[in-house]
Amino acid sequence: MSDTCKKVYITTPIYYVNDVPHIGHAYTTIIADTLARYSRMAGMDVFFLTGTDEHGQKIEQAAKARGKSPQEYADEISDRFKQLWDEFEISYDKFIRTTDADHMKGVQKAFEVMYNNGDIYKDVYRGHYCVSCETFFTETQLVDDEFCPECGRSTTIVEEESYFFRLSKYQDKLLEWYESHPESILPKSKRNEVINFVKNGLDDLSITRTSFDWGVKLPESINDPKHVMYVWLDALMNYVTALGYGDDEARMDYWPAKVHLIGKDILRFHAIYWPAFLMSLGLELPQHVAAHGWWTRNGEKMSKSKGNVVNPKEIADAYGLENFRYFMLREVPFGQDGDFSQRALIDRINSDLGNDLGNLLNRIIGMSGKYFDFNVKSDGIKTYHADELAEVNAILANVEEYLYEIQTNRYLEELWKTLRIANKAIDTGMPWTKMKEGKEDEAMATIALVANILAKVAVLLHPFMPKTTQKLAKALGFEVNHESYVKLIKNNELLETFTIEKIPPLFPRIEEQLLETPAVKEEKKEEKKIKKQEAKKENKSEESGVNLITIDQFFQTQLKVGTVIEAEEVPKSKKLLKLQVDLGEEKPRQIIAGIKEWYSPEDLKNTQVCVVANLKPAKLMGMVSEGMLLAAKDDEGLCLIRPEKPRKPGSAIG
Ligand code: MSP
Repeated sequence: MSDTCKKVYITTPIYYVNDVPHIGHAYTTIIADTLARYSRMAGMDVFFLTGTDEHGQKIEQAAKARGKSPQEYADEISDRFKQLWDEFEISYDKFIRTTDADHMKGVQKAFEVMYNNGDIYKDVYRGHYCVSCETFFTETQLVDDEFCPECGRSTTIVEEESYFFRLSKYQDKLLEWYESHPESILPKSKRNEVINFVKNGLDDLSITRTSFDWGVKLPESINDPKHVMYVWLDALMNYVTALGYGDDEARMDYWPAKVHLIGKDILRFHAIYWPAFLMSLGLELPQHVAAHGWWTRNGEKMSKSKGNVVNPKEIADAYGLENFRYFMLREVPFGQDGDFSQRALIDRINSDLGNDLGNLLNRIIGMSGKYFDFNVKSDGIKTYHADELAEVNAILANVEEYLYEIQTNRYLEELWKTLRIANKAIDTGMPWTKMKEGKEDEAMATIALVANILAKVAVLLHPFMPKTTQKLAKALGFEVNHESYVKLIKNNELLETFTIEKIPPLFPRIEEQLLETPAVKEEKKEEKKIKKQEAKKENKSEESGVNLITIDQFFQTQLKVGTVIEAEEVPKSKKLLKLQVDLGEEKPRQIIAGIKEWYSPEDLKNTQVCVVANLKPAKLMGMVSEGMLLAAKDDEGLCLIRPEKPRKPGSAIG
């Protein structure tokens, strides 16, 4: 992703108002904010958009459940998002709401254009609809003929008159676009998924509903008042209505978007529907659609019902907003899922920020004060540290590319490489020895080198940690802005002569016990539970305070040998396989096992496994599971426990 255009348009998804903001929303927004801040610092004219997605049946139902009108309810939750982004100092230029009059006008205009050019026609739609995902599915996509492949909830059959968008007409054009624009979808691995999906064939898309009211009406010229627009058509259009499309067109010169940041769950809408709509409207296509992974908690999807949703405000309040920003963008490679844990967050703060960055500044403050009354001159660097300086400059010359590919973790890793060079320069240069030997110039050169590396890092880290890096820069006698960016990064210049200011530590060590937020308490409780379970497993002695079980208790669990006679993947599930296991009973047992990451159906067919045979049946993705497989898991993955020699199906283990 190169910055060829001076105008840069960056967007987040617009968030549904059926839920309050959580860490997943904060992640998308923080990435977008960081890119926007970087682009502004680099001198580009940035327009950064976020907002809320307020129409559709889901919102109508959520409002009803609370005894509110959809508008009242949308106002309330939209405000929660806006407030959070304001508290998080998100540098958005516009907060759009799909209930804004000018947005709705723009959507109607777009519908009219697509209708007039023959891309929209009227027909009857019959399909399986998931209210929660606001999506229709074909029969083959459903799990067990009924359940939504995305969320596992029950779908309903809907038959209604509908307007359709000729998506099928755009299949080849879309494929051409992906082919000719290798960076259209980021990370690049996601592009192949999209290409395969499109190659399988695209059906025309139903884009209006008559079964509910809460949506944008069709344009008056079409005169069909019982229809409202499909929420995804309405929502996607926000990216151009925010620039004035269909209204005053005030900011349309920001189009096309440099990047639409989204989560991987909504890639299909952004990488297929959206470009097809744009082609139909005769508008240019975005430069990049960038899809990040999913944040989980202890490996599980976050949801209100599980009570494991991480509240971003609570985390930012407890650990510092900018530390939280750094953690999110450093911890997970873009596009991959990441598990949120406060332990990992504390480690990043204490180690990367406190030890690597903060201590380096403290060392420089200490030494420059002690030896040179805080006054530093850079003119000896080229004599004594030319190699280190060249190495640092070479690393930093290439980091921008990582950011534009949204590989924020790689970008930060590169910055940290320069901090290691700085630390090493002190350890080998030993300014304290040089001072004793009367080699003041050499000591000064080492201190100046390190201060200059810190200055460059302050600039490049600024979009991630805006206030902290200004404090760091101030301690080094400068301010981070476009001018210092050009001087220190683009032109590889040095801070020539400057005075260091003593400031309090930037990253005081976080002692865990000080943070007793509800989330920490919950995590500790969870950890305790896990430890207890592990201790039980290891069967520690009674003296150590761990419960031992009796042989009778052990035999309450019926363990049996089984033979896998059928194995297949559960459609749309990343983890699950559906097995039919012969336990010597009348009928094989159906077992839904979360082992797809490690085993394919072929690996399992006609092999033996060990099964917990007297578990209460449970439902997973709408399918009954009548047992559990025994397996062992460590850092290298999971493996099944199997009998050493074949045994009759149903043989007891114990
Ligand atoms: N309203 C649609 C987007 C329309 S854009 C034209 C929507 N809204 S959402 O509120 O459900 O999700 C918004 C974003 O939050 C998505 O990009 C989604 O991927 C992200 N996240 C929601 N939960 C998440 C996690 N647990 N982890 C990471 N991001 C996830 O979809």
